[in-house]
Amino acid sequence: MGCKIIGCGKALPERVVTNDELAGLVDTSDEWIVTRTGIRERRVAVGETATDLGATAARRALGTEAGGWREAEGAVDPTSIDLVVCMTISGDTVVPSQAAMIKAALGLPNAVAFDVNAACAGCVYGMEVVTQMLEMSAIDQRAAAAEGRPPRSNPMRRALVVGAERLTRLVDWTDRATCVLFGDGAGAVVLDWREDEPGVLSSFLKNTDDPEGVLTVANAFDMTTFPFGGAIEAAGEHSVAAATLNDGTAAALDAPEACPEGYEGALNPYINMQGQAVFKFASNAMAEAALAVLDRAGMGIDEVKCIVPHQANERIIKYAAKKLGIGLDRFQVSLASVGNTSASSVLMALADAYQGGRIEPGDAVMLVGFGGGLTAGALLYRA
Ligand code: COA
Repeated sequence: MGCKIIGCGKALPERVVTNDELAGLVDTSDEWIVTRTGIRERRVAVGETATDLGATAARRALGTEAGGWREAEGAVDPTSIDLVVCMTISGDTVVPSQAAMIKAALGLPNAVAFDVNAACAGCVYGMEVVTQMLEMSAIDQRAAAAEGRPPRSNPMRRALVVGAERLTRLVDWTDRATCVLFGDGAGAVVLDWREDEPGVLSSFLKNTDDPEGVLTVANAFDMTTFPFGGAIEAAGEHSVAAATLNDGTAAALDAPEACPEGYEGALNPYINMQGQAVFKFASNAMAEAALAVLDRAGMGIDEVKCIVPHQANERIIKYAAKKLGIGLDRFQVSLASVGNTSASSVLMALADAYQGGRIEPGDAVMLVGFGGGLTAGALLYRA
């Protein structure tokens, strides 16, 4: 028994931004970006929200809109969805959750919804959370039936898992080291609980502390309404600066000296990254997570049909491939046209793999992610 992916889809904003276009904005070149990352262009949401993108990807996965991959003909019944989980770091609102916004946009009357933030490893973490919830629910329902009692928790048999990012709102477009890397987009899968399918074979999650702050995005809340003074009032001064920065005024970079210790990062509410340190972490973390799930499943890498990694940088994937002793052709690499879309990236690439015919029933498939936190993880399942 296990979870089966019965539909997947992705959605991209209309606006394409090429490397050449970025070269008109910062001191960079198409040649540098392609050589160092493999990225040729990305999409930027100027007319779409994260909810728009997430809902479109979800409709394609559900089959209520064309453009996705479905296991069978026909659309999924919206009343059959019990759970919506969205992985994001750039949702439209903090409250409601991004998942609740997508659920409302789709009209899924019986679903509960919440978000997962595990940065760019979000997809793997989200899939782990959802598949575990469906499994626990199946165990509970079986026990309840055997004992003649109602289930102890919400019965959950079918879930919608969405990665939705409007990440470029967190990008400092004057920083050439980061602005060339990221893009917007959404990916979604529908997971169905099946008594006769193996589903997830093994999983692995890991969090490594990031005391140096090699990959951070500070929160830019305005706390000036807090009326009681003290340390939080001081924090309010930096928050004003951050809020001003969000309005697009460079003056806010002249931060007030009063910024309290520990809050300095909040002066810059954009993606802050030490590229080389992240590169080193990512390439090792990918190989470690991949080997861990193989070990837990008692399988060899040659038994895996397709590996769908987080789409940050082609060089990171190549490095991991070398460590695993396999060719790049075993990986789904989709980043050239979309860049790094954080928690959306693995589900977007997975939709490409299903739609491209790379994954067939019975194939072993591996999802691998890594990101800020520092998070890493992998999930091995049978399609
Ligand atoms: N265009 C041109 N030059 C650039 C540039 C750009 N967009 N960005 C940085 N440079 C310059 C640097 O300033 C540096 O110049 P210097 O030697 O004169 O100081 C030079 O290129 C080399 O910089 P470095 O940071 O050493 O490059 P790199 O080979 O490590 O590549 C990254 C930079 C960001 C592509 C790479 O480190 C990377 O991919 N890191 C991981 C990022 C990532 O995946 N993050 C998300 C994880 S979820």
